[in-house]
Amino acid sequence: MAAPLIPQLLLLCILGTANFFPIGVVSTTFTITNQCDYTVWPGILSNADVAPLPTTGFALQKGETRTISPPASWGGRLWGRTHCSEDSTGKFSCITGDCGSGKVECSGSGAAPPATLAEFKLDGYGGQDFFDVSLVDGYNLPVLVSPQGGSGQNCSSTGCVVDLNGACPSDLKVVSEAGEGVACKSACEAFRQPQYCCDGAYATPDTCKPTSYSLAFKNACPRAYSYAYDDKTSTFTCSSADYAITFCPTPSTSQKASQGQNQGTPTMTSPPPPGTAAGGNDGRGSSPFVDGSMVYEGGELANNGGAATTCTHVGAAVSITLAVWRLMQFF
Ligand SMILES: *[C@@H]1O[C@H](CO)[C@@H](O)[C@H](O)[C@H]1NC(C)=O
Repeated sequence: MAAPLIPQLLLLCILGTANFFPIGVVSTTFTITNQCDYTVWPGILSNADVAPLPTTGFALQKGETRTISPPASWGGRLWGRTHCSEDSTGKFSCITGDCGSGKVECSGSGAAPPATLAEFKLDGYGGQDFFDVSLVDGYNLPVLVSPQGGSGQNCSSTGCVVDLNGACPSDLKVVSEAGEGVACKSACEAFRQPQYCCDGAYATPDTCKPTSYSLAFKNACPRAYSYAYDDKTSTFTCSSADYAITFCPTPSTSQKASQGQNQGTPTMTSPPPPGTAAGGNDGRGSSPFVDGSMVYEGGELANNGGAATTCTHVGAAVSITLAVWRLMQFF
């Protein structure tokens, strides 16, 4: 009786695996790490059409990591809130990225701009995950999204790894009470004009072109969305990946950028003020961010293709357990 048992066991193992992981539905993990030298309070907003995540906001101390498993086909955005505190009445709020809930959990509210956003649509068109890092709503801290162990043509790291707060042009800069630059507005947010917001007469990819402001963000962070129709160079896709989301992936780079500012290296070339004939629309040569140290270094930071995903291991263990359990039903 021993001989026929082995093929049977194998078959059951295969069936067990297939049941647990039908093609295209593999659970994803987000590993969120704070490498900033300050506390970050991540906020998460799920798209209206998907099940929400188990948390919508939490504190992440300096050096801390938290892992989240989004439900299948999850879509939404994630950002980091900074300079947060609770007032005497217990109301929680943040100087950047605040979601207005009055609590650490955002509970369905999004980030007040300016905030660097990491956006995801898992298991979307063609079963692929779509993701990007966006500066369309401005910038508040460096964020890197690194796919782990996925595959596909555009399956690579994206983000904005440099600190733009010090170098932000004064007309876009958000300054704390202490006078420190804490965020950098988008031109849309700062000037509310259709050529910057891609609305009104500028509501199509053909009419809404990069501006000197969006180009400044693009030069500093070439893989991040710098304006609404920046899709070609800013949308990334992976199949079956997990994602590492890191705040301040390179603390040394941000140090460099702010030092450059403090030393007063090249003065900023401010674009023509909005409303003038040029409208800031053609200044391709001039960048409001002039610190030469702010180059993208994200490619080398990528942690691609390294560890096998936990999901696979857990999946295999679960499948084997299930197969053994099924086998026992036979006797
Ligand atoms: C993704 O790949 C396509 C085809 O190679 C390319 O045209 C596109 O620009 C890539 N997207 C990004 C964000 O690199």
